[in-house]
Amino acid sequence: MRPINCIIQEVRSLAPQIRTFQLERDLDPGPGQYVMVWIRGVDEVPMSFSGPDTITVQSVGEATKALFKLGAGSSIGLRGPLGNGFVLRGKRILLIGGGVGTAPLAFLGEQASKRGMEVTSLLGFRSREDIIFQSRFEALGDTIITTDDGSAGIMGRAAAGLKELNLFEYDQIYICGPEVMMWDIISRTREHSSKTQACINRYFKCAEGICGSCCLDPDGTRVCVEGPVIMADRLLESEFGRYRRGPDGSKGPCRG
Ligand SMILES: Cc1cc2nc3c(=O)[nH]c(=O)nc-3n(C[C@H](O)[C@H](O)[C@H](O)COP(=O)(O)OP(=O)(O)OC[C@H]3O[C@@H](n4cnc5c(N)ncnc54)[C@H](O)[C@@H]3O)c2cc1C
Ligand code: FES
Repeated sequence: MRPINCIIQEVRSLAPQIRTFQLERDLDPGPGQYVMVWIRGVDEVPMSFSGPDTITVQSVGEATKALFKLGAGSSIGLRGPLGNGFVLRGKRILLIGGGVGTAPLAFLGEQASKRGMEVTSLLGFRSREDIIFQSRFEALGDTIITTDDGSAGIMGRAAAGLKELNLFEYDQIYICGPEVMMWDIISRTREHSSKTQACINRYFKCAEGICGSCCLDPDGTRVCVEGPVIMADRLLESEFGRYRRGPDGSKGPCRG
């Protein structure tokens, strides 16, 4: 798939290092799907959709910093929508998000709500100033917030909010956030892993299932095409939460 040209219509700042980019094109994505964003002359990087025509980006390195220099009217290249996306199941669902990982969940929750599903959310952030999409989630249903420093909501990591919830009440659980946070939740809630859909990150190059960069040990799942949404019971048997491969294929820690 060749990139198509796209004009950025608007840029909104949500938190000190997080911005939403409104795209001129609605690519008709499903929540959990992603798009490869080509910042010309710099890099092409994967981003989840935070809405039908938006991506929400945390500035972490060269490509995302270059994207933050672009404003309304600038052009980028897009390949997508790509990947499998979340599947909505049941009547009562729980969303568990961390940081910018809340972006695809806000999109998912809005679709679930339109279908008449009951939506509860547990969201973890570092601090009050890092909270994003609070009003979007609160418009959907009960919302529990945690912050690492206790400046808003329950003090602690997202897992600290689990004590407020009875996970048996939910037909399906959806999770997205930093790998350490997702692993913390998934490994504490193993008995619910067969009804937990996790949107995960690996290092994407081709995003077409050809290069093998994103493969998950031990079964070689290609996260770019067979994911990025993978059932948690499969993740428990994989490298997830233990290590991940970088651009040169070597194993590294599960940060971010
Ligand atoms: C399916 C998927 C969905 C994502 N959705 C979002 C999102 O909605 N919002 C958001 O802010 N970020 C998202 N990311 C992460 C985003 O792709 C990285 O933050 C971005 O690529 C960093 O590039 P950089 O040059 O700014 O930083 P770098 O300094 O190059 O890297 C910083 C971190 O990003 C990772 N990274 C760099 N390039 C890639 C790549 N090609 N593929 C995967 N990881 C990479 C690195 O491994 C490192 O951990 C997503 C990643 C994946 C795989
Ligand atoms: S990024 Fe190339 S196979 Fe997944």
